[in-house]
Amino acid sequence: MTRNLMAEKTARKPTVAIVGAGSLATFLAVALHGAGFTITEIVTRDSPRSRRQARALAAKVGAQLVTADSAALHATLLWFCVPDRDIRVAASALAVHLAARAAAHKKNKICFALHSSGALSSRELDPLRKAGVAVASVHPLMTFVAGAHPSLTGVPFAMEGDHAATRVASRIVRHLGGESFSLPAARKPAYHAWATLTSPLLLAFLVTLEEAARAAGLTPQGARRKSLPIIQQTLANYSHLGPSRSFSGPLVRGDAETVAKHLAVLKKHPGAREVYVALARAALRGLPVKNRNGLSRLLRG
Ligand SMILES: NC(=O)c1ccc[n+]([C@@H]2O[C@H](COP(=O)([O-])OP(=O)(O)OC[C@H]3O[C@@H](n4cnc5c(N)ncnc54)[C@H](OP(=O)(O)O)[C@@H]3O)[C@@H](O)[C@H]2O)c1
Repeated sequence: MTRNLMAEKTARKPTVAIVGAGSLATFLAVALHGAGFTITEIVTRDSPRSRRQARALAAKVGAQLVTADSAALHATLLWFCVPDRDIRVAASALAVHLAARAAAHKKNKICFALHSSGALSSRELDPLRKAGVAVASVHPLMTFVAGAHPSLTGVPFAMEGDHAATRVASRIVRHLGGESFSLPAARKPAYHAWATLTSPLLLAFLVTLEEAARAAGLTPQGARRKSLPIIQQTLANYSHLGPSRSFSGPLVRGDAETVAKHLAVLKKHPGAREVYVALARAALRGLPVKNRNGLSRLLRG
């Protein structure tokens, strides 16, 4: 069978080796396993801590625990779930290993390699691309943390890379319930800045809320509990009504006196004040604010 024919055949439901055993790897390996994919190997670094974590994951999905040097690489697809700064290093190590196996006349089945960085392009996998592997970046717009099990139904996956690799990745995403879309490599840093605002920096905002609540004498736990109903309703309104029709409070009413009181009391909480001012300015730019000039003057000071 030619390499192309083999790639076409295995593209339907490829066997997968996962590199890494952190947040994404743990979620993805279990999700793929649950969707009927065979996970052959979990590739880990050679330290006791890394091995411990990877061993637990390998046991969960019935995979072998290996390092880059000992991997059998009998999967058809390699999925790198390592931090962005480690992708190229990990890809180089496996490319060297593939070359050594080829030199020893051992069969290599790897046809595809993916990574899941939102900011970096598939070029990070060039060491494998040079070895004849089709590569792509596949970024799920979802947050994966220990202790949470998000549904992938309807989750967008940004894709970019070699046609053969994005095609097989799209099929996998469909099996998982997600929806793939293509994103030019040059747009990835901007895309990922936006993605970072959607969850990690949204959390930074929620933590700032707790800081502001301290000024009102609330504990962080109390603030969290009391604020969840209004936060959840705001998200529901944003989803159903859009941003402008969901906008309430002193800015939409043009109430500069109230905003001045907020700014005064938050002087003792400069971190929260900084965020308040930045967001009030964002409201002036993008939301239906009344008394725009008065509020602009106030927020300039
Ligand atoms: N978590 C998310 O919500 C999320 C969402 C979308 C995309 N992503 C992407 O997924 C990738 C991984 O993120 P993460 O959050 O899962 O990171 P993470 O929780 O820090 O896990 C990274 C894993 O990679 C391992 N690792 C690092 N270098 C390695 C190497 N050379 N060989 C084998 N394993 C290696 C680490 O093991 P040791 O350090 O223990 O050796 C660890 O198990 C990133 O590209 C990120 O942008 C993450």
